[in-house]
Formats: sequence, structure tokens, C-alpha cells
Amino acid sequence: MDSLFSPRCVWVNGPIIVGAGPSGLAVAACLREQGVPFVVLEREDCIASLWQKRTYNRLKLHLPKQFCELPRMHFPEDYPEYPTRRQFIDYLQDYAARFEIKPEFNSTVLSARYDETSGLWRVRTSVPDAPEMEYIGRWLVVATGENAENVKPDIPGLEDFAGEVTHVSDYKSGAKYRGKRVLVVGCGNSGMEVSLDLSDYGAHPAMVVRDAVHVLPREVLGKSTFELAVLLMRWLPLWVVDKIMVLVAWLVLGDLAKLGLRRPATGPLELKETHGRTPVLDYGALARIREGEIDVVPAVTRFNKSHVQLADGRVLNFDAVILATGYRSNVPKWLQDNGLFNKDGYPNTAFPHGWKGQSGLYAVGFTKRGLSGASADAVRIAKDLGNVWREETKPTKRTGACHRRCISVVF
Ligand SMILES: Cc1cc2nc3c(=O)[nH]c(=O)nc-3n(C[C@H](O)[C@H](O)[C@H](O)COP(=O)(O)OP(=O)(O)OC[C@H]3O[C@@H](n4cnc5c(N)ncnc54)[C@H](O)[C@@H]3O)c2cc1C
Ligand SMILES: NC(=O)c1ccc[n+]([C@@H]2O[C@H](COP(=O)([O-])OP(=O)(O)OC[C@H]3O[C@@H](n4cnc5c(N)ncnc54)[C@H](OP(=O)(O)O)[C@@H]3O)[C@@H](O)[C@H]2O)c1
Repeated sequence: MDSLFSPRCVWVNGPIIVGAGPSGLAVAACLREQGVPFVVLEREDCIASLWQKRTYNRLKLHLPKQFCELPRMHFPEDYPEYPTRRQFIDYLQDYAARFEIKPEFNSTVLSARYDETSGLWRVRTSVPDAPEMEYIGRWLVVATGENAENVKPDIPGLEDFAGEVTHVSDYKSGAKYRGKRVLVVGCGNSGMEVSLDLSDYGAHPAMVVRDAVHVLPREVLGKSTFELAVLLMRWLPLWVVDKIMVLVAWLVLGDLAKLGLRRPATGPLELKETHGRTPVLDYGALARIREGEIDVVPAVTRFNKSHVQLADGRVLNFDAVILATGYRSNVPKWLQDNGLFNKDGYPNTAFPHGWKGQSGLYAVGFTKRGLSGASADAVRIAKDLGNVWREETKPTKRTGACHRRCISVVF
């Protein structure tokens, strides 16, 4: 066993939160309110790095703002129904300032393990141009998100393709693609919106749709489709709401199978519930597909230097490829888990029960329910930690002092 106090050790008197995205910030804010000290470790040099560095310019929140607020602070009143990416980042920066959240930036967590002997979590981090650090504490909050790493598909020949291949997390706008033939692989919310953006900038996008997909209108009669579903779920079982959603989508958007977008047999809400697959909300891409400005193509079977073979036998030329093929959790890479997470880096237990594990381990933001799921987790975690903290720091009769010293010490 390595010694407990190796060089560059930091004793954290309170929870260690890994990740300064919306989830980590939400837990930190709720802890701050209760006077519980904490440390936030963030691999990047800013808060909300996904939103600041890995999203495209035209992005807006896709749900109405009341479903995207973090606990204890509303969006400014003058924000629109669907705040822009920039507005959301400003909100998060104000949030961090208001709750005095100052993460340790450029601190990538390499490993975290629970030391049974001492009953403490040991969290190793790398910091550029500095020796590794080890943070030691009683509680660990995992807030590294569902989008920590890019998924790059293993399609034969992709490495031989001569044009630029970009994951959507590095895509900012279609400006540099004007006049080019661009293959967008994937038809989730990213693939659809990036195809629309490319079309706006005068590129010629073709979007790969390899399987069935649920596309829903963002709004129905001026009301958010998501809000409508939430409302109906209060009175009706999920399968009935699913039928209504599909009917509404058919009435508003028409028969999408004609455009190459088959609907799955399972309804959109059930698919989200069982497989975490988010339905795609239409922002205008469907109209472009109808106009022939965006092509829909089947799965890619092979890439060659300048062309691409498709599952229907066609061979097409492209100048560039954008992989809108999703993201994954990175938790299995660094957490030596004690049963909270599965091999894919998600809690074993479904929402709303997946936020707490053994030995002071917590998970926030792995609910496949976006910001509202993260906020719900954060409130539960902070309440639980607040109770434990108050119990542990009760003044003892003998000394009147805290059990735990309220300082962080660097060794
Ligand atoms: C393009 C896009 C648009 C989205 N739009 C919406 C939307 O409109 N509404 C909605 O509800 N949800 C949306 N989501 C879902 C999104 O996951 C959440 O909105 C939100 O960002 C989740 O917050 P998080 O803090 O859990 O994860 P993240 O925002 O990913 O934050 C995790 C943080 O952990 C850090 N980190 C990761 N690994 C380590 C490590 N080993 N060591 C230290 N730090 C680490 C990361 O750098 C990051 O800053 C969107 C996602 C994407 C990709
Ligand atoms: N606020 C917004 O407007 C907004 C915008 C973008 C994203 N988001 C959110 O961000 C999250 C991630 O969305 P995302 O669209 O980036 O990822 P995603 O939802 O995981 O979608 C990935 C897509 O890539 C496809 N794919 C994966 N591998 C493929 C392969 N080898 N060949 C062809 N297709 C392949 C998938 O197809 P299969 O379904 O067949 O696997 C799917 O269509 C979601 O929660 C989403 O709602 C929100």
C-alpha cells in the first residue's frame, strides 16, 4: 500500500467534486448554502468546458428555460424561452460567482479509489508542468458528465479518407465548408442541426441515417413538445403519451419515412426511458431535406481516399466528414468503483435512485435527463452530504470543538 501522505497531498475537509460543468456547479452551490466546504477539480481552464469549448456557435437550449435552470438561481428575466449557448454560459459564470465556486482548473483526475483502511477517497490528478497531486477526503462526487469523451466510429477505411474529418465537438460553424460536399455521420440532435447549419452556409451536406429515429417538432401550437409531454404524463400512462406524441409529430411534420427517416416501433419516451436515446427536435432541418438541400443517405460501409461506399451500393465523393456520432462517459477510465457505476460509466440504478453509492461516493448528472436530471441529483446529494456534515461537525461536549478541522492542508 502507498503511504497515505505521499508528496503533494491535499487533505480536503469536505466533498471532492470532479467536474465543473453544470452538475458539479449545482452540487457546489447547494453545499455552499449549507456551509459545507468542498473542492472542485476540473481538467480544463474554465467552468462548463463542454458549453464553452466543445459546442457549435448556433446552439441554443433545446428545452424551455424553466427546465434548464440550476438549483437556487433563476435565469435572468429578459432571457428568451430558449436561451442561446452564450446566454447559458453567462448564466453559469454568474452562478459560479454568486456561490463563490472557484474550481482547481487544469486538474485532470487520473484515478480515484477508496482506501478501506483509512476510510478515505484518494484522488490523483495531473496538472500541466507540475508534479501530480493527490486529494484525500471522505466524500467523492462524480460530475464528469455523459459527454466527457467523443465517440468516433470504427468504420473501415476512415483513416484513409483524404479530406478533413472532424468530430462535431470541434465544429463551430459551416463558414469554412461553403461550396463543399460534407458527409455528416449521425442524425441525433447534433447531426440534424449541423446539417442545417452547413446548408445555411452554402455547403452541400449529406446526413447518414443508419437506423430508425424519432423526430418531433420542437413546438406544437406555440407550446414546447417537451412541456406537452410532461403535462400529459401527469394523467396518462407513458405508452398513451407516446402514441399521442407520434400522432402529433405525424400531423405537424408529415410522413418522415418518405424522407428516409423511419420511426422506431418503440415510442420516443419509452426509448428514452429504456435506452437513453433522445428524440430529435426539428429546428428546420426537415424543411431542407424536403427541398433537397440536405441529402439523407444510409450507413457507410467503407471510406476510401476521396469517396464513400454506402450500404445501398452507391459510391459518393465528399470533401469533408463531420462525425456527429455522440459521446460517452469517462468514469470507468479513472474511478475504481465500489458498485455505483456500470462498465459504460453510468449508475447501475435508474433515475431517481442512481445518485448515491457506498463509502461516501455520489454521482450527479448521469440520468440521461439533461440539466433537469442534474439539478434533481444535485439537490439530493447536497441534502444528504449536509446532514452527514452537520452530524460529523457537531461540537463535542468535552471540547466544544469540531471533530474535523475546517482547513485544507497541502503536504
Ligand atoms: C451539444 C450539446 C447540447 C446539449 N444541450 C442540452 C440542452 O439544451 N438541455 C439539456 O438539458 N441538456 C443538454 N445537453 C446535455 C448536457 O450533457 C448537459 O446540458 C450538461 O452539460 C451536463 O452537465 P454536466 O456537468 O453533467 O457535464 P459536462 O457539462 O460535460 O461537465 C463535465 C465537466 O467535467 C470535466 N471533466 C471530465 N473528465 C474529467 C476528469 N477526469 N478530471 C477533471 N475534470 C473532468 C469536463 O471537462 C467538464 O467540464 C447537451 C449536450 C450537448 C453535447
Ligand atoms: N440543445 C440542443 O439543441 C442540442 C443539440 C445537439 C445535441 N444535444 C444533446 O446532446 C446529446 C448528444 O447528442 P448527439 O446528437 O451529439 O449524439 P447522439 O444523440 O448520441 O446521436 C449520435 C448519432 O450518431 C449515430 N451514429 C453513431 N455511430 C454511427 C455510425 N457508425 N454510423 C452512422 N451513425 C452513427 C447514432 O445513430 P444510432 O441512433 O443508429 O445509434 C445517432 O444518430 C443529446 O442529449 C442531445 O439531445 C442538444
